[in-house]
Amino acid sequence: MHMKMFFLLFFFALPFVMADLQVGFYKPTCPQAESIVRQVVQNEFTGDRSITAALLRMHFHDCFVSGCDASILIDSTNKKPSEKEAGPNQTVRGYEVIDKAKKRLEDACPSTVSCADIITLAVRDAVALAGGPNYTVATGRRDGLESSPSKVILPGPEISVSGALQMFSAKGMTGNEMVTLLGAHTVGVAHCFFFNDRLSSPDPTMDPALVAKLKKTCAGNDEATAFLDQSRTPFTIDNQYYKQILLRRGILQIDQELALDNSTSRIVSGFASNGIGFRQSFAKAMIKLGNLQVLVGKAGEIRNNCRAFNLANRKAAN
Ligand code: HEM
Ligand SMILES: *[C@@H]1O[C@H](CO)[C@@H](O)[C@H](O)[C@H]1NC(C)=O
Ligand SMILES: *[C@@H]1O[C@H](CO)[C@@H](O)[C@H](O)[C@H]1NC(C)=O
Ligand SMILES: *[C@@H]1O[C@H](CO)[C@@H](O)[C@H](O)[C@H]1NC(C)=O
Repeated sequence: MHMKMFFLLFFFALPFVMADLQVGFYKPTCPQAESIVRQVVQNEFTGDRSITAALLRMHFHDCFVSGCDASILIDSTNKKPSEKEAGPNQTVRGYEVIDKAKKRLEDACPSTVSCADIITLAVRDAVALAGGPNYTVATGRRDGLESSPSKVILPGPEISVSGALQMFSAKGMTGNEMVTLLGAHTVGVAHCFFFNDRLSSPDPTMDPALVAKLKKTCAGNDEATAFLDQSRTPFTIDNQYYKQILLRRGILQIDQELALDNSTSRIVSGFASNGIGFRQSFAKAMIKLGNLQVLVGKAGEIRNNCRAFNLANRKAAN
């Protein structure tokens, strides 16, 4: 009886023990870590507000491919292609921001702060600067030893809602959390090549006025971009994305389908009418995204340069 109790407790407690992340992980080893990241992000943001979108997308692509392990940052070498070579990588940006923070952190506390934590902290700061929630991030992530284009399985803009729900569910995310995270499309841009097909023979689910506008934007230039949030606040983390898709003004097919599909439309209406509810939900879902399959303790490494595995581990990674 007692033994059984013990095992029950053991198994229930295990996930929390293994999640070695902790708020203020760097306090003893690098007390200035979080403020250094915040300063770098603040500086960048002052010059270019679009970095919030860049970092959000980078974080999503990192965490959905083999966990939040900074595998997305690894540069390809002559011998070995990295995640950056995979199709969906194209157009992920913001790598310089992470490099700048890493450089300052290596000067202040060498070999201490992981690139995976830098991304997670930088996203948090960039979200807060863009008017979003300022949530607390647990740290202690370690950097992964693998980055391979063949590991990259990410949803494309034409994925169905049910397909997307399956992908998110495989990562332990609920439908509510998926709809919340897609709210990140309240900032940033999409290139015409991701939605051109909705214009040529106009997608009946798109507001015809928007079709006309986007046709002009994209005319003869696949590389042109449009704001994912067509309201007046394309640089602000707010609930305008949901209002826009209810008005049939979603840019990507998946954005629009979210408002139309039975299984997500009610969540969309909820966020459209409750900005505070969205903020709270967004903070929670971002924390959960940042905790996906993290490496902790002695796993992985602390990279010295976010773009390359440490020398000692390069062999192992090959
Ligand atoms: C079913 C899920 C998703 C799909 C199919 C999807 C697809 C896309 C596509 C096609 C783009 C345009 C990229 C470009 O043209 O450069 C984009 C941009 C973006 N995505 Fe998503 N996305 C999804 C989920 C997410 C999530 C969960 C986040 C973050 C939490 C996110 C954040 C962003 C941001 C911020 C941008 C703008 C990037 C920029 O301005 O550089 N997306 N997404
Ligand atoms: C992304 O991958 C493509 C090939 O699919 C490559 O040409 C491009 O340089 C990569 N982008 C980055 C930023 O590495
Ligand atoms: C977020 O909170 C931290 C800690 O309280 C604070 O230092 C920082 O200025 C806040 N960020 C923004 C953009 O308000
Ligand atoms: C929503 O789902 C119900 C039952 O699953 C179905 O009868 C109905 O046609 C669906 N509505 C739409 C708009 O897809």
